[in-house]
Amino acid sequence: MVSTMDTREGRRPDQGFCRMKLFRLLCVTLITLLPRISRAVEKTPLFINCGSDSVITDVGERNWVGDSVADTNLTPSFVGIIASTSAIGEEDRYRNLYKTARIFNTSTHYNFTLASGSYCIRLHFHPFSFESFNANDSTFDVTANDIKLVLSFNVPEEISSNNAVKNLSGNSLVKEYFLNVSSNELIIEFVPVSGSFAFVSAIEIIPAPDHLLVDSVNRVGNPGFKEPFDLRGRASRQSID
Ligand SMILES: *[C@@H]1O[C@H](CO)[C@@H](O)[C@H](O)[C@H]1NC(C)=O
Ligand SMILES: *[C@@H]1O[C@H](CO)[C@@H](O)[C@H](O)[C@H]1NC(C)=O
Ligand SMILES: *[C@@H]1O[C@H](CO)[C@@H](O)[C@H](O)[C@H]1NC(C)=O
Ligand SMILES: *[C@@H]1O[C@H](CO)[C@@H](O)[C@H](O)[C@H]1NC(C)=O
Ligand SMILES: *[C@@H]1O[C@H](CO)[C@@H](O)[C@H](O)[C@H]1NC(C)=O
Repeated sequence: MVSTMDTREGRRPDQGFCRMKLFRLLCVTLITLLPRISRAVEKTPLFINCGSDSVITDVGERNWVGDSVADTNLTPSFVGIIASTSAIGEEDRYRNLYKTARIFNTSTHYNFTLASGSYCIRLHFHPFSFESFNANDSTFDVTANDIKLVLSFNVPEEISSNNAVKNLSGNSLVKEYFLNVSSNELIIEFVPVSGSFAFVSAIEIIPAPDHLLVDSVNRVGNPGFKEPFDLRGRASRQSID
């Protein structure tokens, strides 16, 4: 399980990286605690490669299953547009994951069947241009079981403002949320604003402990400093790549 969180090795120790490290540490800690906490129903992680019909295993040592792979229950409610690009750096370790995306020209949801409980959801966005769909023109909302995760979201804008604030030159974005799934259903819906479209490159759904409600966590390398750590749906962290 520990290796599944190993996502951002080898990057320079900027703020995003440190946050990522902190987040990773949290997840590793949480996942390590998991077997002791939830004994009843097994929660399993899902790693989804959007806009792909194959399984890739060379990104972060996970099995990323394409959302076009038959008999997986990972396929969205509308097929939308399967997009791919070759304009992605050879050195990008997410290359194989990020070279495909699914574009939604109408409201579309994924319907994941899960054991109920808390999950960490990570949405990956690597913007590119495909046919008439230029990610710069894409504006959309994302909801998870009716909780709004993002509203009128434009990925390239968010990447450039993050880059400006953090002095980075990233070209992709990962949004992270904690969510309590009370039924056995997790509906992640992409809702394009009128006349626009939505897209997503990859989705991760990682079990988090149910009954471990931490109000705060110790910041790594800074003992005594605490920051809020809300597991109830609105917590969001993000990193750019
Ligand atoms: C969305 O795209 C599909 C495939 O190109 C097309 O068949 C469909 O008409 C489009 N729907 C809307 C609402 O534009
Ligand atoms: C999600 O899938 C379940 C099981 O197939 C089904 O009962 C439910 O109606 C679906 N929900 C939505 C919103 O599609
Ligand atoms: C999006 O806009 C930015 C800034 O105007 C530009 O540099 C970039 O090439 C555009 N991206 C695409 C896919 O056209
Ligand atoms: C921004 O990053 C570049 C390259 O990493 C570095 O050379 C530059 O000094 C940084 N600028 C600031 C204001 O930190
Ligand atoms: C999550 O949902 C379950 C079932 O509805 C509930 O018992 C639990 O208290 C909820 N946890 C949080 C953190 O809201």
